[in-house]
Amino acid sequence: MSRALDRTRPPLYGDLSSWALIHADALAFLQVVPTSSVDAVISDPPYGLAFAGESWDGEYLATGEGFQAFSTAWAREVHRVLRPGGYLASFGATRTMHRLVAGVEDAGLEVRDQLLWLYSTGVPKGRRMPNGLSSALKPAYEPILLTRKPLPPGRTLTQHVRETGLGAIDIEGTSADPQSRSWPTNVLLAHEERCAETCGPRCTVRVIDEIAESERRGARPVSRLFYSTKATPTEREAGCEHLPKTKSEIFSSKSGGRPRANQHPTVKPLDLCRWLVRLVAPRGGLVLDPFTGSGSIGCAAVLEGRQFIGIERDARYVPIARARLAHWTKAALAEGSQA
Ligand SMILES: C[S@@+](CC[C@H](N)C(=O)[O-])C[C@H]1O[C@@H](n2cnc3c(N)ncnc32)[C@H](O)[C@@H]1O
Repeated sequence: MSRALDRTRPPLYGDLSSWALIHADALAFLQVVPTSSVDAVISDPPYGLAFAGESWDGEYLATGEGFQAFSTAWAREVHRVLRPGGYLASFGATRTMHRLVAGVEDAGLEVRDQLLWLYSTGVPKGRRMPNGLSSALKPAYEPILLTRKPLPPGRTLTQHVRETGLGAIDIEGTSADPQSRSWPTNVLLAHEERCAETCGPRCTVRVIDEIAESERRGARPVSRLFYSTKATPTEREAGCEHLPKTKSEIFSSKSGGRPRANQHPTVKPLDLCRWLVRLVAPRGGLVLDPFTGSGSIGCAAVLEGRQFIGIERDARYVPIARARLAHWTKAALAEGSQA
């Protein structure tokens, strides 16, 4: 293992009061994180799909067994470092979700739910072939697994929440319509990027709202679901202005090949990450993301007033995550001082 990935002395960045980013292999570094020291883990781990040709998403993860064994290995450490009653929320992919769920459950975490994040701007992972054939549908949702470290034996949920603040999710803080005290659902919707003024004809939110509108018979409108658009170019790049920009094939069709500093292929939207933070991480608590990438979950955590520890192994993404975390921490401080 190179010195940069030495698990006892890996490079560490951040202000260390609101966030820390460790450039290390998660499986190695998690072993030195103290037991029962983290309030919530929110992560977007590799999906085992060799996405965008990235080796971190392929190689030994490319078989079902390999991916499941990897999921159990990191989730075992997550189970150990979480405080009892603490939640793990993990993004997954439709093709490998069954392995993620089984792997995480085998590590000792209780499966509580599977959320669906629906959108309409996914890129098909198959090719068009003659005679109207292809090997894949266009993706329009991502599953998010919600699990919890079991409560100590003999402890009721009410007792545990009262004594530790852990074990329950915040349904009031995540309701799309807090005035009406409506219960948040396990389906989350994304607008298309161009929906700022008016929704495009294929926008999921518009389609569902229109169906709801036409079918409504005094029932609650579906528009009380939480909406989160995919990460826009502006959001991805915020804070990265000083980093070198390069063109990327992944984004070329969407943005006309504009050079970008944030080259991460799977950036998650801050709105959605903030919603997850509010849902599972107690106020002021500590959030861990062992697969930080460009840092979206960390940025969301600091924006929601939680402390954050991130781990990222790939040297290409560490400066991007650092820049974004520093940017959004400053924004959170400015927001706080104006409040
Ligand atoms: C799906 S991406 C996360 C993207 C992130 N949610 C974002 O918004 O940018 C997964 C990340 O995990 C990192 N990774 C993969 N295996 C790792 C390991 N063993 N230890 C630490 N990081 C790892 C990859 O380099 C990649 O950046």
